[in-house]
Amino acid sequence: MQVTVSRKAHFNAAHRLFNKNWSDAKNNEIFGLCSNPNYHGHNYELIVSVTGNVNHETGMVIDLKILKEIIYQKIELHLDHKNLNLDIPYFKTIIPTAEHIVKYIYEILKSEISEISEKLKIQITLYETPRNFVTYPATI
Ligand code: NI
Repeated sequence: MQVTVSRKAHFNAAHRLFNKNWSDAKNNEIFGLCSNPNYHGHNYELIVSVTGNVNHETGMVIDLKILKEIIYQKIELHLDHKNLNLDIPYFKTIIPTAEHIVKYIYEILKSEISEISEKLKIQITLYETPRNFVTYPATI
């Protein structure tokens, strides 16, 4: 039997959406307030979903205590209270949109969780605001 289990997490971070190949006017036109040169913050909310077989002995897909600790160590400590553009090398060349942040988080967690079992599949939903959120890998 396959089940999806999920854990919520949270971090605060600042960013600026800016394409260095565009003029300030074009950046403003496309990214609006998110292109503010002095950066701005978001309260990011994260849902990490893990899908796999329920283990016969434990009755669990993954021990949520372990998942909680991985998210805390690898995502919250890494991203919380950071300026994504300045503090995280990955975003020196990649625009820190929610789409790119969710992919970044996915790659980190995928590598950690595959050490527990290669068979576990993960999916990440990242809320940039209570109304705006992205999911990776895409569901359709
Ligand atoms: Ni923003």
